[in-house]
Amino acid sequence: MSELPQSNDPEGLDGVRMTWNAWPKSKVEASKCVIPIAASISPIRHSAQIPTLPYHPLRCKSCSSVLNPHCRVDFAAKIWICPICLQRNQFPLHYSSISDHNAPAELYYTTADYAPAAAAAAATAAMGNSGAVAAPRPVFLFVCDTCLIEEELGFVKSAIKQAVGLLPENALVGFVSFGTQVQVHELGFSEMSRVYVFRGTKELTKDQVLEQLGLGFAGQRGAAAAAASGSVASRFLLPATDCEYALDSVGSVGSTFGVELLLDELQTDQWPVQPGNRASRCTGVALSVAAGLLGACLPGTGARIIALVGGPCTEGPGTIVSKDMSEPVRSHKDLDKEAAPHFHKAVKFYENLSKQLVSQGHVLDLFASALDQVGVAEMKVAVERTGGLVVLAESFGHSKGPSCADTVIGQGNTTAWKMCGLDKSTCLTVFFDVSPSDKSNPPGTLNPQLYLQFLTNYQNPGGEMRIRVTTVTRRWVDSATDSQELMAGFDQETAAVVMARLVSLKMEMEEDFDATRWLDRSLIRLCSRFGDYRKDDPSSFSLNPNLSIFPQFIFNLRRSQFIQVFNNSPDETAYFRMLLNRENVTNSVVMIQPSLISYSFNSPPAPTLLDVSSIAADRILLLDAYFSVVIFHGMTIAQWRNLGYQNQPEHQAFAQLLQAPHEEASAIISERFPVPRLVVCDQHGSQARFLLAKLNPSATYNSAHDVAAGSDVIFTDDVSLQVFFEHLQKLAVQS
Ligand SMILES: *[C@@H]1O[C@H](CO)[C@@H](O)[C@H](O)[C@H]1NC(C)=O
Ligand SMILES: *[C@@H]1O[C@H](CO)[C@@H](O)[C@H](O)[C@H]1NC(C)=O
Ligand SMILES: *[C@@H]1O[C@H](CO)[C@@H](O)[C@H](O)[C@H]1NC(C)=O
Ligand SMILES: *[C@@H]1O[C@H](CO)[C@@H](O)[C@H](O)[C@H]1NC(C)=O
Ligand SMILES: [Zn+2]
Repeated sequence: MSELPQSNDPEGLDGVRMTWNAWPKSKVEASKCVIPIAASISPIRHSAQIPTLPYHPLRCKSCSSVLNPHCRVDFAAKIWICPICLQRNQFPLHYSSISDHNAPAELYYTTADYAPAAAAAAATAAMGNSGAVAAPRPVFLFVCDTCLIEEELGFVKSAIKQAVGLLPENALVGFVSFGTQVQVHELGFSEMSRVYVFRGTKELTKDQVLEQLGLGFAGQRGAAAAAASGSVASRFLLPATDCEYALDSVGSVGSTFGVELLLDELQTDQWPVQPGNRASRCTGVALSVAAGLLGACLPGTGARIIALVGGPCTEGPGTIVSKDMSEPVRSHKDLDKEAAPHFHKAVKFYENLSKQLVSQGHVLDLFASALDQVGVAEMKVAVERTGGLVVLAESFGHSKGPSCADTVIGQGNTTAWKMCGLDKSTCLTVFFDVSPSDKSNPPGTLNPQLYLQFLTNYQNPGGEMRIRVTTVTRRWVDSATDSQELMAGFDQETAAVVMARLVSLKMEMEEDFDATRWLDRSLIRLCSRFGDYRKDDPSSFSLNPNLSIFPQFIFNLRRSQFIQVFNNSPDETAYFRMLLNRENVTNSVVMIQPSLISYSFNSPPAPTLLDVSSIAADRILLLDAYFSVVIFHGMTIAQWRNLGYQNQPEHQAFAQLLQAPHEEASAIISERFPVPRLVVCDQHGSQARFLLAKLNPSATYNSAHDVAAGSDVIFTDDVSLQVFFEHLQKLAVQS
């Protein structure tokens, strides 16, 4: 095989990272590894080096795996052996010219995209047939909250206009607004814009929605409706280019139709709000009307509902809090005490909605302008299950095949998952069980390699269908006798992220789950199993370098927003966890253990310990905690800045020192979506807590006497990393 360039990218071309890169051979040995065997995979991450093959993948006749570089090939006999099930497969006729020197591309690339539709289109064209295969058009349905103050609505309008301008040319755009009621806007008319109004108080069935929109009568849907969908779509969905055209030609009579005009005319919700009341906002009905509209126009084609929401649902199904302001929005404490009267009902409603969206193949994106108020905790299920995050199990009848794990973690009991939205940065976790019967690796088999293949059917932004095939190999190891090899394959970062995702799931699913205790026990067991020590002698304890930073990840995870949920609202927690479940390993690690960079006159900017001892009067610190970025000026730096030294020509170096962390922060922020919060603060200032909360409290008011001058102390009873390690060592070596 040809040598492909190796990159420094830890995910490699395949976009796969595993907690364990060498796998124990038995279920018992796997459970002794403590950290689950799991892969974190970015199914369609982009890389210029991934080839697109314009034909159908060749599949194993026994297990349906796709031909890949790990297959053994007998070119003379035109046979390939599937590494996964060991089946011998004959190459089909159109592969008859293959040879050692003329091997098909799929034998060279562990990750490849197949584009069979391109083959079909080419064939059609070659046959002189003009009926080219049209790709389905991507669809974006905006659902806009109007219970906003004038100024906010203005922001929302300009955001939508901007978004429409950025859509692919062939995209279709639709528009629904809501407040006390829901309005579905017809866009395809030049003279007069027609609006369909729905009451916000009552849940409507899909049929009722369609009836009201004039999209079909009972018994006459199905094939007939599908045939008519072209015209249906054109009433409610307008090509993005037409919206833009309208945008360019404001004032030119006769062409001012579409989203532009509609947005200009859109008003804030006009229903009066009684004093002491919240606005009446029927987010649930609006989303269910939007889902019904897309279901009628475009079942099975990629479409996104983009909901822009500025407050909690208070009207109709999906309500998260009553209109009466004296009832506060539920907190974590309320949820714990079962004192959130609307919560379960609302979750159930959004769960129903997610089922409908998933069956239609449509995505819900939620943009909340008031993070801790709108009901993200309740709506999370609909966003995650459709938005390509967590997923709804079972499709294509793959459930309970021979490769299904017995233990269910998250969406289990299947080997096929459906996600309605998937982008190039989406990164998912798959958990593996080592089978007790172990058919794939019978004792005495010589091949120490194991093989995994990930197949992703997806629609690319141009609307074309692709199949991404990634095949990876790892080693089996007899872990009972060879702990060294097992440890050499331990990926600490991936393990930290997988544990964070798993513990977050358990916190949501298991009643009375004690997350800190579970993490502590897991870590102690891991250290007992893999540490080097004499029994009952804590001072003898040491850890292999491949595991040595893992305890610190767990220490920071225990203190993070994922575990210490009481510092945030349920909405914020839901939001943090959605991003944790979606982002790649590198980004997720930063959420768990922020990075800290130090800027000073004495040395170039350099990473420094995430510890309160890193604070110094003559330093600037830059903290990247993923959701926030903090620039922290030491006391002396802040004084000089207040005196304006940076404006004096002889203090140019100081001006540069002051500027450098801002430039780095801008670079971080420009790359990241959603945009993190930027905090600029000074030592001893009130905002300093954004940094202090993330630092190891090596010096607290309990130990203030050993603090270096110019440093800082943290007012906390949290244990420091050192105390944590001491306890860990003591417990790990206990017999
Ligand atoms: C969910 O859907 C089921 C069946 O479609 C329906 O009976 C139930 O009332 C719905 N529940 C909620 C909370 O909307
Ligand atoms: C998984 O499937 C089995 C057999 O079909 C079923 O008994 C079990 O309840 C399922 N478990 C979950 C969590 O869905
Ligand atoms: C384990 O440590 C060795 C030596 O430092 C390193 O080469 C290897 O990449 C590490 N393994 C993993 C999975 O990080
Ligand atoms: C992780 O995602 C970030 C932002 O999406 C990207 O810049 C980075 O290259 C990704 N890292 C890997 C290893 O894919
Ligand atoms: Zn096979």
